[in-house]
Amino acid sequence: MSQTLPSAVATAASDRVTLIESFHAVRAQTEALTRDLAPEDQVIQSMPDASPSKWHLAHTTWFFEQFILAPYARAYRPFDPDFAYLFNSYYEGAGPRHARPRRGMITRPGLAAVMAYRAQVTAALADFLEVAGEPVLWAVAPLVELGLNHEQQHQELILTDILHAFSCNPTSPAYAPYRPTATAETSPLDWIAFQGGIREIGHDGPGFAFDNEGPRHEVLLRPFRLASRAVTAAEWQDFMAGGGYRRPEFWLSDGWATVQREGWRAPGYWEQRDGIWLSMTLAGLRPLEPEAPVCHVSFYEADAYARWAGKRLPSEAEWEIAADALRPHGNTCGSGLLRPMPATPGNAATDVRRRLGVDSKPLRPLSGLRAAGRDGRRVQRQVHVQPDGAARRLLRYAGGPRTRHLSQFLLSPPALAV
Ligand SMILES: [Fe+2]
Repeated sequence: MSQTLPSAVATAASDRVTLIESFHAVRAQTEALTRDLAPEDQVIQSMPDASPSKWHLAHTTWFFEQFILAPYARAYRPFDPDFAYLFNSYYEGAGPRHARPRRGMITRPGLAAVMAYRAQVTAALADFLEVAGEPVLWAVAPLVELGLNHEQQHQELILTDILHAFSCNPTSPAYAPYRPTATAETSPLDWIAFQGGIREIGHDGPGFAFDNEGPRHEVLLRPFRLASRAVTAAEWQDFMAGGGYRRPEFWLSDGWATVQREGWRAPGYWEQRDGIWLSMTLAGLRPLEPEAPVCHVSFYEADAYARWAGKRLPSEAEWEIAADALRPHGNTCGSGLLRPMPATPGNAATDVRRRLGVDSKPLRPLSGLRAAGRDGRRVQRQVHVQPDGAARRLLRYAGGPRTRHLSQFLLSPPALAV
């Protein structure tokens, strides 16, 4: 997990060596993430929206087999013809597939067979890239790049989903040991002003982007201000104490209906024992870290918090303009922390003001601030478990407004806007 991937994972698609090295690095990273999981851990599907680790391992492999080896490598024979049905996710053009909510029923193939599948495809694709003629290499390089970014998304989902699975275990097992950090304070909340006008958002430039991250287009913005850091767990407790989950006036209609239906009283994975708030983490059940950004809240909760605080969520365009100056860097998977860190003034990875260079100091490498959202809005997200090398300034990720665990796994309530 401490492995550092090439910073431009597969962005130098024209470079055969870089492409092959990136491919091996990403494949190895996925296997490192699951190495300490028992086979039993890797079969469980704790809810319909989550997938077993074994399925992630196989599905990311199927992608390379289905879209590159099968059409381009003439001598390649599929590892098992049934795997296309079992491990297709939702690629309509690739044929029928097993129902997503029933992925936990796939006890066969076993983990050993899936790992053999991975080994075959990894070796076959690396060999293919090694010898492919230049025209073929240029044709498949964008597909390899897409496959690597896809696999990195699934690396995050492996962590996302195993946390949910372990949260369903009464013994609250730890995926990884808890790593303490030095700081237990957070920066004062400050407001950073941005100019309005006709601005541009959307992916631009030669780097990789998923197809929903473009095209670049103009938007009209009023001047706005963005908070300098995310909302903390302690501030969220104030919201709870202030009746945040009991007062419908803070909530959108469907959000309030969800609060009632789901019995939400606190962020996902929080629980109170003997008056102490704890949170299920990848290091097991831990006391809340009050100064750390709160996470596992849905869009509806973030929106209600903002209204309670007399603020609002930044729009998608506002956040993207603010993030424009950011260079993804920071508390990614390689830190081993696997949780958000408090925003401290001296920490360029967590302090938005510092990252934006508005303190008149040279612009430092920026943390992995990401945007995720839905319904035309975005909320701030820190890349706490994003695989190394995968962090990008722009990310449009799936996830419904009620989702607490999935794409918004470590979704922080946004830096508020006014
Ligand atoms: Fe996928």
